[in-house]
Amino acid sequence: MKITIENKSILDSTADLIAVNLFEGVKKPSGATGAVDKAFHNVISNFVIKQEKFSAKLGEIMVVTVPENKTFKRIAVIGLGSREKFGYDEVRTLGIKLYQKLKVLKNVKKIGTILHGAGIAGLDPEKCAQMFSEGLLSASYEYNKYKTKEKEPKFSELVFCETDEKHFKAAKKGIKTAQILAEAQNSARDLINEPAMFVTPQKVAELAKSIKGIETKVYSKAQAKKMGMNAFLAVGEGSVHPPEFIHMRYTPKGKPKRKIAFIGKGITFDSGGLDIKPAASMLTMKDDMSGAASILSLMKAVVELQPNLEIHGIIAACENMPSGSSYKPGDILTAKNGKTIEVDNTDAEGRITLADALCYAEEQKVDEIIDLATLTGACVVALGTFVSGVMGNNQELIDRIIETAYQSGEKFWQLPMFEEYGKVLESDVADMKNTGSRFGGASSAGVFLNNFVKETPWCHIDIAGTAYLDKAGADGVKGPTGVGIKTLINYVRGLK
Ligand code: BES
Ligand code: MG
Ligand code: ZN
Repeated sequence: MKITIENKSILDSTADLIAVNLFEGVKKPSGATGAVDKAFHNVISNFVIKQEKFSAKLGEIMVVTVPENKTFKRIAVIGLGSREKFGYDEVRTLGIKLYQKLKVLKNVKKIGTILHGAGIAGLDPEKCAQMFSEGLLSASYEYNKYKTKEKEPKFSELVFCETDEKHFKAAKKGIKTAQILAEAQNSARDLINEPAMFVTPQKVAELAKSIKGIETKVYSKAQAKKMGMNAFLAVGEGSVHPPEFIHMRYTPKGKPKRKIAFIGKGITFDSGGLDIKPAASMLTMKDDMSGAASILSLMKAVVELQPNLEIHGIIAACENMPSGSSYKPGDILTAKNGKTIEVDNTDAEGRITLADALCYAEEQKVDEIIDLATLTGACVVALGTFVSGVMGNNQELIDRIIETAYQSGEKFWQLPMFEEYGKVLESDVADMKNTGSRFGGASSAGVFLNNFVKETPWCHIDIAGTAYLDKAGADGVKGPTGVGIKTLINYVRGLK
């Protein structure tokens, strides 16, 4: 989707269709919508509003055909809903709805529109352009790589028309930001959609090495063994694809203001291992590297943003498979920090890989560690499929992450990490077991991970429910969501 902005009136647009807007309850439109109404014999006030009783609910759209000598033959009126409830989230929704409703129109390739929200609503034009573009770009995501039949082409270009010089400049910036965020989100979606037969730990390592502007070190199985990562390595034992421990590092030109390590869970396929999953639960387990995909995208965005921060991207990539060489229930693993783990269930593999990744991250002497992981089915039970679970050892960091998520249009919610959740992890033969009870499972996973962080502020984000959707989510797209990316990029932008 190409998004641009032109310094002209919407009436001079060269698009196939122009889209204007209307608040609920308005009988006589003003502003840009008013100008269009006037130029076309009151088609909006007399026909759309009076005759058709268009109610202008948020995202509602009515399209009329206009027999004029302009290039555009159609006008779409999009509802803004009630004035009181209108804010940036609503602007994002407009971008989503506009795409969903207008993509079905034949002969509409290019759409001209105004900066929704920056006119009568009086919102910041930069953020309006950003939010609208974010919605549009997220909603227009499709994965057609393996479809052999050509799909009907949809509209692929949107042009904002803006005559105010200040608004024009601000909007240009907003569009750019949206493009960085959407590129990160949608490229992660592509990688998650890609089957596990292609996305092996080697593929993830290769992609990490291909990112320009950062330094990437990939540790082989033998090297990881030397570094004491026996917990991580055990998980990959059953697979024909060897594990890869990936460390990406972005170093700014000047002295960094802060050093941050981001860790992404990178199980390229989670069959459950010997504690094998039932077919229905295994079906989407190519998504168990969603955290890793987001970290790869984040690192690419970081190179573009050039923040004055030192940023580490860490992925312990492996595949969890059952075979004669698999790790087994009852095995006792020694993690990088010397603590021992009795394997209670081979399907709770993510936390075992993260244990070593967290130890490694802390050794990098960073100021904070943030991990993103499709970790527990229990988190899905607790919060559903549109809220990610947040835990950690530092309330200030947790608060900042949750607030950034809120600003980014992602819903994060804190789950408790009371010591009692660790009770079920007590082992008779080792320092801890990797699982205990199904009850409170997201929290006991959090408490498990806490054993591998000494003192560095750390925030854990469980995206098991939000990373991959069987039914279309808020942006109308099924499958991988790229959840967490916007939050993490905005977090970095905020510190910059
Ligand atoms: N990758 C899964 C978690 C998951 C579940 C992600 C659903 C996405 C959707 C994780 O490795 C896992 O299998 N967790 C087990 C842990 C259990 C054995 C304690 C689970 O949640 O069932
Ligand atoms: Mg598992
Ligand atoms: Zn898993």
